[in-house]
Amino acid sequence: MTDRVRPAHVDEAAELTQIAVRATKNDGFDDEAIVRFMPGLKVNLALIAAGLVIVAESETGVPSGYVSLRPTGIGGLILLEGIFVDPDHSRRGIGTRLFATAVELSRKMAGNVILINSSPTSVDFYARLGANKIGATPFVFSPDVQLTMFAFAIPPA
Ligand SMILES: CC(C)(COP(=O)(O)OP(=O)(O)OC[C@H]1O[C@@H](n2cnc3c(N)ncnc32)[C@H](O)[C@@H]1OP(=O)(O)O)[C@@H](O)C(=O)NCCC(=O)NCCS
Repeated sequence: MTDRVRPAHVDEAAELTQIAVRATKNDGFDDEAIVRFMPGLKVNLALIAAGLVIVAESETGVPSGYVSLRPTGIGGLILLEGIFVDPDHSRRGIGTRLFATAVELSRKMAGNVILINSSPTSVDFYARLGANKIGATPFVFSPDVQLTMFAFAIPPA
């Protein structure tokens, strides 16, 4: 695996959002669904500026995925805002690497737990990472989609 990870730049926000769109379409959602999901797919500029968005990029410098975190300031709880891998690069371990980087970053922010709202197709990914299912919730931007809630306990360094 040749992809490296680095903090995202504000000027690549649109490119990262397109990765999220492609990954979500690849999960079987149509254009109408993408329009509804868009507020949740747009990468957050404030999180990029705060160094909370991490990009995986190939040897040629092309982004292949990203993860973004939102600290809550409450009891070491960190929200996984989003994790997306371009479908052309899926099942090569990039999502796992991005999640491991998110765990390291969370630990630096004194995080204890990462809270995840998983799309139906990503449940096996989080289960394999060792996250624990804690419930279910409707997707706020499209309540017809049920998300599985996971809590990932950050192990001591
Ligand atoms: C979920 C996602 C981030 C995984 O990224 P990835 O780089 O393909 O994941 P990895 O290669 O690290 O996969 C690690 C393991 O997770 C599991 N896994 C990953 N994607 C899976 C899928 N679609 N179905 C079943 N298991 C899956 C597998 O056990 C896989 O190991 P294997 O390939 O050896 O079988 C990516 O598929 C994605 O962007 N999905 C669409 C967007 C999305 O749902 N994001 C999460 C929003 S909560």
